[in-house]
Amino acid sequence: MRLIHTVAEMASAQKGVIRPLGLVPTMGALHQGHLSLVRRAKEDNATVEVSIFVNPAQFGPREDLSTYPRNQEQDLALLEEQGVDLVFLPQPDDIYPAGFDTWVNVGRVASRLEGEARPDHFRGVATVVSKLFNIVRPDRAYFGQKDAQQVQVIRKMISDLNLSVEMAVLPTVREPDGLAMSSRNAYLSLQERQAAPVLYRSLRRAQDMHTDGVRQASAIREAIQNIISTEPMAHLEYVSIASPETLDEMDTIQEPTLVSLAVRIGKTRLIDNVVLGNGGL
Ligand code: PAF
Repeated sequence: MRLIHTVAEMASAQKGVIRPLGLVPTMGALHQGHLSLVRRAKEDNATVEVSIFVNPAQFGPREDLSTYPRNQEQDLALLEEQGVDLVFLPQPDDIYPAGFDTWVNVGRVASRLEGEARPDHFRGVATVVSKLFNIVRPDRAYFGQKDAQQVQVIRKMISDLNLSVEMAVLPTVREPDGLAMSSRNAYLSLQERQAAPVLYRSLRRAQDMHTDGVRQASAIREAIQNIISTEPMAHLEYVSIASPETLDEMDTIQEPTLVSLAVRIGKTRLIDNVVLGNGGL
């Protein structure tokens, strides 16, 4: 496994790789969700690269950039075990050198839900992902459904900017009690961790109602709100029942429909989602 620390080294290394090249962009603190992306990338590609970069541009001024979990040694051991070929570990001032002043702004789909709660978040994500695509030049890139809005933002960017990268989206990997795997789960205290599966419980209820034939979005929204309110530690920020592509809210469930939510448990903000109907993201 080759470690690459600079943009210049990476830009020249990608020229010699055996294609297809699959990229798994990450911010490190790797868990089974990331490793499922790596495994799929290994199946699909001759060469697999993982980037580990805690991207300052996607954190708001009062967010958790300084405390975001970092565990490079363990991450590298996990990637070595998976047979990853290249790991890109750039420094912030190499990605954003002094005077950096060009940003990728995706429109409507980035402006709602997470975009409302976290202004500039998706500008930071779209900018760093487009930079990674330009530096690494992957044939395919792998993302998790857990960050459903991020998936749609990147998909729109790829389409609108004619980027020649094929995007693969893999299902959310969950803990046995249903909690979606996330690097931020590490912030939860024992008590908060016990409360956290309420997110998926409420999404399961939405799936059951859909299976039972309920098509009224308001009924599903209310059921989710009720389930979240049974957990005193959980504070619901939003529930969205929307078209997965546009994120326009729906009154009547069509297929597919993205049901997504953001919930604060203590100081930790968790997001999760399910897609109702056949077909994922
Ligand atoms: O999903 C993430 O970990 C990040 O948003 C990404 C895609 C690596 C960009 O920094």
